[in-house]
Amino acid sequence: MKIVVVGSRGQVGHDLLRVLPPLGDIISLSRSELDLTQLAQITPVIQGYCPTVVINAAAYTAVDRAQTEHELANQINHLAAAQLASAAYGCGAAFIHLSTDYVFNGFKNTPYEETDPTNPLSIYGQTKLQGEVAVQQAHPQSVVVRTAWVYGTAPQSNNFIKTMLRLGTEQDLIKVVVDQIGSPTWSYDIAAIIYDLIPLILAGATGIYHCTSTGVASWFDVAMTIFDEAQSMGLLHHPPQILPIPTASYPRPAPRPAYSVLSTTKLSHLLQRPLPYWHHSVRKMLNQLLVTL
Ligand SMILES: NC(=O)c1ccc[n+]([C@@H]2O[C@H](COP(=O)([O-])OP(=O)(O)OC[C@H]3O[C@@H](n4cnc5c(N)ncnc54)[C@H](OP(=O)(O)O)[C@@H]3O)[C@@H](O)[C@H]2O)c1
Repeated sequence: MKIVVVGSRGQVGHDLLRVLPPLGDIISLSRSELDLTQLAQITPVIQGYCPTVVINAAAYTAVDRAQTEHELANQINHLAAAQLASAAYGCGAAFIHLSTDYVFNGFKNTPYEETDPTNPLSIYGQTKLQGEVAVQQAHPQSVVVRTAWVYGTAPQSNNFIKTMLRLGTEQDLIKVVVDQIGSPTWSYDIAAIIYDLIPLILAGATGIYHCTSTGVASWFDVAMTIFDEAQSMGLLHHPPQILPIPTASYPRPAPRPAYSVLSTTKLSHLLQRPLPYWHHSVRKMLNQLLVTL
C-alpha cells in the first residue's frame, strides 16, 4: 500500500511518519515538496504517486493570525483541501482529512456529536468547516477526522505543553485560562488511530469521526498536570505558581469555543476500543520529550 502524508512536518504529520510504516510505503510531503498555495501543482504531484491513501495533515493553524489572513487560511484549509480530495478521488485513492473542534461555537455543555450543527466563531474555524464540506463534495467516500487541543513532540511545531514548559523556566507566576473546556489530544494517539482506521476505510468506512482523547479539562487543569508530571520526572525543579483566570482577562483576536468536548462514541464503536485518557497521554508525551532533551 502507498500512503501519501501531506503536511508531514506538522504535529500530526510527524507522528504519522513514525506510526504508519508497517502499513506500506509512506510518501512524506512537506511544504517544500508540495506548497498548498500552488493549487495547480496539487493534482499532478498527488496523482504522480498513484497512492492507495492520501492523508491531509496540513493546515493553516495560526488561529489568531487567520483573523487578518482570511484569504491565505481559506486557500490552505478550504481550496487546497478540496483539491487534494479531488486529486485522491481522481486516482481511486482513499482520502483522510483532519479537522477541528473549532467548527462548533461551544455553546453546548455536553459532548458534541458528529451530527450536531456547526457554527464556527473564528475565521480559522470557518475555513476548516468550508474545507470539510468541500472535501466531502470532491470525494464522497472521504473521511473527516475532527480533533482538538493537539500537542506533540514534532520539533518544528509549538503547542500548549511546550509553551508551558518554556514559561515554567522563565516565570514564577503563569496565568492560565480556566473557563475553556476541551480534551487535550496527543498527536501520536491520533496517528495510531489513523493507523487502525486505514483498513476500515479501505473496507468502506466513510464520513465524519470525532477523534480526541477521553476525559475533559480546562487549560488550567492541563497546566497543573504538566507541571506536576514535569516535576516528578525531573524536567523542572521549581514549578511556577499557576493562577486560574477567565477568558475575558486574556483577550485574543480569535474567539475560542468555551466548551469544545467532542463525543468519540462513534469512533470508539468503529475501532471497537476505548480511546486514550488525556492525562495518561500527557504523561507519555512528556516521557518522549524527556528522551529528546
Ligand atoms: N493544533 C491543534 O491544536 C489542532 C486542534 C484541532 C484540530 N487540528 C487540526 O489537526 C490537523 C493537524 O494539526 P497540527 O497541530 O499537526 O498542525 P501543525 O503542527 O500546525 O502543522 C500543520 C502543517 O501544515 C503545513 N502547511 C501550512 N501551510 C502549508 C502550505 N502552504 N503548504 C504545505 N504545507 C503547509 C505546515 O508546514 P510548515 O511546517 O512548513 O509550516 C505544517 O507542517 C490540522 O488539520 C488542524 O487544523 C489541530
